[in-house]
Amino acid sequence: MENHNLETRFQNKIDQEIKIEPRDWMPDAYRKTNIRQISQHAHSEIVGMLPEGNWISRAPSLKRKAILLAKVQDEAGHGLYLYAAAETLGQSREQMIEDLHSGRAKYSSIFNYPTLTWADMGAIGWLVDGAAIMNQVMLTRTSYGPYARAMVRICKEESFHQRQGFEVLLVLSKGSEAQKAMCQDAINRWWWPALMMFGPRDSESTNSDMSMKWKIKRKSNDELRQQFVDMIAEQVKLLNMTLPDAQLRYNENTKHYDFGEINWDEFWQVVKGNGPCNKERLAARKKAWEEGRWVREAATAYAAKQKQKQKAA
Ligand SMILES: [Fe+2]
Ligand SMILES: [Fe+2]
Repeated sequence: MENHNLETRFQNKIDQEIKIEPRDWMPDAYRKTNIRQISQHAHSEIVGMLPEGNWISRAPSLKRKAILLAKVQDEAGHGLYLYAAAETLGQSREQMIEDLHSGRAKYSSIFNYPTLTWADMGAIGWLVDGAAIMNQVMLTRTSYGPYARAMVRICKEESFHQRQGFEVLLVLSKGSEAQKAMCQDAINRWWWPALMMFGPRDSESTNSDMSMKWKIKRKSNDELRQQFVDMIAEQVKLLNMTLPDAQLRYNENTKHYDFGEINWDEFWQVVKGNGPCNKERLAARKKAWEEGRWVREAATAYAAKQKQKQKAA
């Protein structure tokens, strides 16, 4: 069939809300965009284990430790679903990992910020997982089938993550003066980076038009960011805490919260690798990859042996 016809049929499917599956014809740019987005998303889940992993050994109680451990393991699972989804598009796992290690592939900049106190575990669950959910709920309806289906499972776990984070902060917010101060400080430090998670303003976002047409995305960066601000501005009241933005106020006309300007210079600095923990995060990932080499080799050798046995039988 002519390329033109194939493209028309592809777009018709998308318009009719029929999912695109791995063996279906798709434009190269659609494949590339999905590989880029899904692998970035997978990297974010895996690198995202590091800031919280930092507190597993220092959780304040056995219960908190068990919850945090489960949460960090969930993120590993998310990463694995997503790497598997990207593989269905023809990208190898090794290539994806290599791209992460060489800096060619990105991951969410939020994980380049340090976790300084226990309250950061709360702020991350509430704000970072909260921001991720906005994006991920939208992605349960993304046009590429394997990605959409992975997201359905992931979203169920993410809402648990957000609630556990909020609950960590809720307990601190009712504690001693020092605990209240720790809670407010964590919110102050994570608020702006969480807003940056939605990416550049719509007017500066380069990939948006095609992603919308192909229904890879269904809401723009600014729409999702606004939705997030509206949600958090209400929830923060339940904590008796504030968000660090003097311009934040409810706008009767728009029925949304107005908010101040993001520090875009900081945003681009962190994207370019100059955030507080970029080097540390990548070093940790490379070390884990090297230290896991023997496991991969052993698993491959075992699989080969099993195959031999089957053949012989
Ligand atoms: Fe996750
Ligand atoms: Fe999560």
